[in-house]
Amino acid sequence: MVKDFISLADFTADELMHFLNLADELKAQKKAGIPHPLLNGKTLALIFEKPSLRTRLTFQVGMYQLGGTTQLIDTRLGERESVADVARNLERWVDGIMARTFAHKHVIELAEKASIPVINALTDKLHPCQILADVQTLREHKGKDLSSLKVAFVGDGNNVFHSWANFVSRLPLNLTLVCPEGYEGDPEIIERVRKETRAEFVITQDPEAGLKDADAVYTDVWASMGQEDEAAERAKIFAPYQVNSTLMGWAKKDALFMHCLPAHRGAEVTSEIIDGPNSVCFDQAENRLHAQKAVLATLMGGVS
Ligand code: CP
Ligand code: NVA
Repeated sequence: MVKDFISLADFTADELMHFLNLADELKAQKKAGIPHPLLNGKTLALIFEKPSLRTRLTFQVGMYQLGGTTQLIDTRLGERESVADVARNLERWVDGIMARTFAHKHVIELAEKASIPVINALTDKLHPCQILADVQTLREHKGKDLSSLKVAFVGDGNNVFHSWANFVSRLPLNLTLVCPEGYEGDPEIIERVRKETRAEFVITQDPEAGLKDADAVYTDVWASMGQEDEAAERAKIFAPYQVNSTLMGWAKKDALFMHCLPAHRGAEVTSEIIDGPNSVCFDQAENRLHAQKAVLATLMGGVS
């Protein structure tokens, strides 16, 4: 297995299954009150260039539950000193680094220059921790045979979508992106996933066609962190892609609604849908804790 958790495409299908199964196991142990101090005495450094609620809290709580601790660093990488020097300092003190950055290349550089594991906690390009938790949630609600399921991702072909695409390039699960023209995501990722996936991988501008037979409808904000200046223009472009009762009506009757959060009610999703009976967004948020504990325990030496 590779040293770092940067992209889901860096892992084999078996390795991704290992993370998912371990996440289930750690969740069950937590619920049963069984301690699991797999990272006793270890420290994880948390680097945040962008805001966070879920990621920050789940890494802090997760390390605590694994018997370790965290140290928070609010910084912009590459400004005060080089990314390489940050890596070479941190590896002398801590056992792992989690980083949320703007530039994806900074997480890659940290991983290349540090001898300790580096975990990608969101970049402008990818958000792999989120998708691991999302798939854990999907398995809980729809069963473990992912290959028979279809996820329709409605909205921007962004970091969250890219990580979904990377996931389906390794483990078959049918994925459709429903987006306005020009928001289909990174062409390099899309082309590679098209070649590598064994499932259906579709990109369409037509919500009705894209949502047909979907077992889960997923959306995310229209303007991601760092795109605030484009928010007004994007609000107009994405308006036909709001997940509301009309759109959900085109998916399967029992389709789940999924959102990585934070959500903007009245923009990408209506309150009726996100607060409705098929919404599992808080299960997704809960599972960030368990999925990331599986990654931490594996990469930082707690389990083989
Ligand atoms: N979904 C997610 O990563 O949430 P935060 O931005 O609050 O960490
Ligand atoms: N695409 C969003 C995800 C937030 C968790 C962003 O990057 O802001």
